[in-house]
Amino acid sequence: MDDNRQRGIGVFDSGIGGLTVVRALMERLPEENIVYFGDSARVPYGTKSPETVLGFARENLEFLKSRNIKLVVVACNTVSAVALPILKAEEKMPVTGVLLPGALAASKTTKSGKVAVIGTTATIHSGAYEKALLAINPDLEIFSQACPLFVSLAEEGWLDNEVARLVAREYLEPVVKFGVDTLVLGCTHYPLLKGVISEVMGEGVKLVDSANECAIEVEKILEEKNLRKLAGDAGGIKVFMSDVPYKFREIGERFLGRSLGEVTKIRG
Ligand code: DGL
Repeated sequence: MDDNRQRGIGVFDSGIGGLTVVRALMERLPEENIVYFGDSARVPYGTKSPETVLGFARENLEFLKSRNIKLVVVACNTVSAVALPILKAEEKMPVTGVLLPGALAASKTTKSGKVAVIGTTATIHSGAYEKALLAINPDLEIFSQACPLFVSLAEEGWLDNEVARLVAREYLEPVVKFGVDTLVLGCTHYPLLKGVISEVMGEGVKLVDSANECAIEVEKILEEKNLRKLAGDAGGIKVFMSDVPYKFREIGERFLGRSLGEVTKIRG
């Protein structure tokens, strides 16, 4: 009989940025198998309407369900911000995202009660991080800032040069003025820019990476639902993409921090 525990963890993102979440999952749960779907043919999601993002997310989830999985991780902050409650309500399988774990970690990290969130335009416009943070602690003061160009910088691999520094200063100066002690990196791509972001924000500001917090949450769900893979072979990753763009492997491996293995193109 099929043992649910031996199934994989499905992860999807609008592209390859979600591999930062996979990296955190592989570090925390090395025995688990991961099935990753990146919708590179339709990235970015962060500039699109909530209805469009929801439609894409439903399709991505259906694809993962056809790959023998036990849980779905929405690695994309934009989908987590605009569509997660709907996906959860529609799906029997556990579905989790990156938003709530990031908000919880930020609320535990801040001492001053002043927190900033950065993300794509769609994520910031949705107000979902603010809502989640205020539901945890209504006394928090929150500053939200969309930083859409950070996605292109990360994809291009411009992580630590003058252009990255200039863009970071432009976006983050108002955040510095507001005076926070905690900054939520509310986008899959931003952990790659931690160096310059931290430089602009200053040493006293803690950066919350929702990838790590999400991996902790996934471990909790697997425990609670008795879904942890039984001891045995080490886990692996299968990568599916809706397009395999130029420079994909180089960028993907930078996000994942290791070799990607075989990549299968689906659709189109
Ligand atoms: N994955 C998206 C996010 O985390 C960033 C890229 C996009 O805009 O699709 O919000």
